[in-house]
Amino acid sequence: MKHSWWQEAIVYQIYPRSFMDSNNDGIGDLQGVIRRLDYLKELGIDVIWMSPIYQSPNDDNGYDISDYQAIMDEFGTMEDFDQLLREAHSRGIRIVMDLVVNHTSDEHLWFVESRKGGGDNPYGDYYIWRDPKEDGSEPNNWGSCFGGSAWQFDEERGQYYLHLFSKKQPDLNWENPRVRDAVFAMMTWWCEKGIDGFRMDVISLISKTREMPDGVVRGLYGDYGPYCVHGPRVHEYLQEMNERVLSRYDLMTVGETPGVTPEDACRYAGNDTHELNMVFQFEHVDVPGKYGKWNDEKMPLTVLKGILSRWQTGLYGKAWNSLFWDNHDQPRAVSRFGNDGAQYRVKSAKMLATCLHMLQGTPYIYQGEELGMTNYPFQSPADFRDIESIHAYKEWCESGRVPHEAFWPCIVAVSRDNARTPMQWDDTEHAGFTQGKPWIAVNPNYKEINARAQIGDPDSVFCYYQKLIALRKQYPVIVYGDYQLLLPESEEIFAYTREYEGKRLLTVCSFTDKEAEFIVPEEFGGAECLITNAVGRKEGPDKESSGKEAIGREDSGKDACSGRACRKGGIRLEAYEAVVWYKELA
Ligand code: GLC
Ligand code: CA
Repeated sequence: MKHSWWQEAIVYQIYPRSFMDSNNDGIGDLQGVIRRLDYLKELGIDVIWMSPIYQSPNDDNGYDISDYQAIMDEFGTMEDFDQLLREAHSRGIRIVMDLVVNHTSDEHLWFVESRKGGGDNPYGDYYIWRDPKEDGSEPNNWGSCFGGSAWQFDEERGQYYLHLFSKKQPDLNWENPRVRDAVFAMMTWWCEKGIDGFRMDVISLISKTREMPDGVVRGLYGDYGPYCVHGPRVHEYLQEMNERVLSRYDLMTVGETPGVTPEDACRYAGNDTHELNMVFQFEHVDVPGKYGKWNDEKMPLTVLKGILSRWQTGLYGKAWNSLFWDNHDQPRAVSRFGNDGAQYRVKSAKMLATCLHMLQGTPYIYQGEELGMTNYPFQSPADFRDIESIHAYKEWCESGRVPHEAFWPCIVAVSRDNARTPMQWDDTEHAGFTQGKPWIAVNPNYKEINARAQIGDPDSVFCYYQKLIALRKQYPVIVYGDYQLLLPESEEIFAYTREYEGKRLLTVCSFTDKEAEFIVPEEFGGAECLITNAVGRKEGPDKESSGKEAIGREDSGKDACSGRACRKGGIRLEAYEAVVWYKELA
């Protein structure tokens, strides 16, 4: 397979609203991002994925776009954007734009025109319109992702329109060739500006079946899944997009594809399917419970490993993985998969980073993850800013369906607002994010957890990320190696090996707050430790002064745990330890 820059890149996601405010109106902006480019350079990332910065009424924080070729007033101007692109490029950092084309805002000109009626209206067929049923009710029982029906009646046009997200996010009708022309022209306009790629919002939903029957009822509404997810023409549309736009530029493309399996991914992002470079899958972050996605249960480690391993092996040599724990729609990784208590926050954040960054694929870091930022201690529903959490609380609790006490822990565990609190830059008021009043509350732990405290501190989470990023650039086995899971049954240890051109890597991560024993495979005897978060383990070649190999040798004649009780050939892992060993085959 041909190697490409985006396979070797590390991507950093910016949620601009919460990243850095330059003019103290409490809202992050493009000049704020420009100010922090040197910080990102220091971290070592190669690509920024910008969550949407386009003109938007902000029903869903920019994921509802009213003009694709203008910058949101609160974020700045097109000149600011051009400056950002120049300054990023001058530092060797590429910019990937969020592309939200499953839907627009209802304030987009296309929709404003479309609601005037069908007939010879050029925009009449830009969206998905249906007549009411005879009794005036919705065309079918589908529910929207943000609660309520997926259909909204429009008085002006006298029809319902489909919105899989909020009613201010009407779905575009991709069946209409004019819609595709308009979207591709807009994308080309951005490419001509010199951007470096697209992250494509819910791109697996753009094709819908023509027939739209009722869906199986889950909760209050019917499931649109079988009719909208990986719909009949989605691959055709993406191939057309690739042919008409993507293939003409040197881009990185990643599709957000809810509901995707490794088999689907091999089509969306296959080496020779001419669609996208990679997709985001969600199997490892979706843990549906009693109240749909609102759930505070942890996924058992064996299940998590099973999922990630299936993706590692399922795509190897056929398609390309994306790697992430966090994004703007997910709770904070250290709170969810690690341990955000005082004793283990730093340690477990480093462990999670190791576990992810040593896998095969392109790693994504979500702003603040590199500091070990945590979930927010929500006190009441009034703390929420996110349309999804606000609606969910109404639909499940205020409606009387579920008591507050039962629902509250579930919503705070996974609310998207956990990820959207302001970036913690320093220990000054509002964490150095703004000198105004932030649009969403700053996490009160900013005095302790912030960038200024971590930069230059060799024991910090930030410096650990720097090191992981540097390792990926130094060792091709991290990027290109194959993958093999060890100990699939262990609920404590996530261990795997990678191999590429005679170089081998062994990553061992402990997901428990207790010590655990690990037997190092014999072939790693004498391996070099590339990185570890452990207090009691040294980096460097793992040889004893006698010259004997210290790990992985049943017959080494010596207990490898340097005095701590464990079996020969075994090592005792500290709580939340991560360690990576490297060995070149003889
Ligand atoms: C994607 C985005 C999410 C948004 C939704 C609708 O899932 O990541 O933030 O709300 O699409 O655009
Ligand atoms: Ca601002």
